[in-house]
Amino acid sequence: MISHSKPFLREKELQSLNEVVDSAYLSDSHKTNEFRTAIQNYLGLNNLYFTSTGTHALSEILEILDLKDGDEVILPSYVCESILIEVLKRNAIPVFCEIEDWVSNQNDIQEKISLKTKAIIIVHLFGIECSFNELNSLEIPIIEDCCQAFGLKIGNKYSGSIGDFAFFSFHTTKCLTTGEGGAFCVNNEKYSYKKKYFLESNHNIFKMSNLNSSIGVSQLLDYDDFLIKRKNIAKKYLDILKSHNLKNEISNTIWFRFPLLVSNSKFFIDFFEERGVLVRKGVDKLLHKEFAFNVELNHTEYIFNHTVSLPIYPALSDLEINLISNTLNEYLDRYGL
Ligand SMILES: Cc1ncc(COP(=O)(O)O)c(C=O)c1O
Repeated sequence: MISHSKPFLREKELQSLNEVVDSAYLSDSHKTNEFRTAIQNYLGLNNLYFTSTGTHALSEILEILDLKDGDEVILPSYVCESILIEVLKRNAIPVFCEIEDWVSNQNDIQEKISLKTKAIIIVHLFGIECSFNELNSLEIPIIEDCCQAFGLKIGNKYSGSIGDFAFFSFHTTKCLTTGEGGAFCVNNEKYSYKKKYFLESNHNIFKMSNLNSSIGVSQLLDYDDFLIKRKNIAKKYLDILKSHNLKNEISNTIWFRFPLLVSNSKFFIDFFEERGVLVRKGVDKLLHKEFAFNVELNHTEYIFNHTVSLPIYPALSDLEINLISNTLNEYLDRYGL
């Protein structure tokens, strides 16, 4: 069965790991520093703090923002639940915004802003740009969730370097992995005194080991190629859609996922599974439903019900890409979308 996602691990990562093991410096030292500097240079960031996971990175940002009981945080419902849990842990109130295609709709965010809004979480889901240029002037902290969008270019900058804060995940499923791991950055100088606090009080608590970092360094060295491979696979799928007079219009993405709107997602998933391809829904559950928030998000629900996600990752072999492409072709020939 072709899995839905898989890390791209090569001989290089193994070699890099071996070097660290041979050096006997397994903990946070030279490779960790090298990885931090490499990410900062790649993304154009001034500061980056490693954490144990992406969720942990968000937790630290909310700590810096001093989120309190009754503060409101705007976020989409169409995202993984760990984000919501971090908000709820602080007794803050989640305010769910609608999505347009697969990412938050700026106009709806603007309508949901109140005097209590303490932060807006912008999720570049599936690697797709979530625009927030109209929100920049509002004096409300913007937190960019770049967990699925490491290396996404927005204009001449990288996602993660634009919002007041940003966070990243290096979980196994992500485009750039270290096994587990996360990071956050503080871009707005207004919060720089908190950076000092973070460094001084937490420096010895949150660390990334040389082992994890060595994998990250190897991945980052070839990261542009990883993204090209994703783009080339996407082009194959898009060409198949085109040959059926269909399209999948996503304006700016790194193709972390290849989401597609279909009329019957279960039928589509079963069809692919019968042919040895694991297709999944875009996200597993809607947060407002799962946590019983009484809010109407009709478009979000439509997207949730109709989205499927095709395997798209650099570790796919040509044979596997052909099987997925042929299955897509066969499905479209028979049923359309
Ligand atoms: C969009 C998004 N945000 C946050 C997270 C949390 O990252 P982690 O799994 O490293 O805690 C993930 C990963 O699952 C994610 O996909």
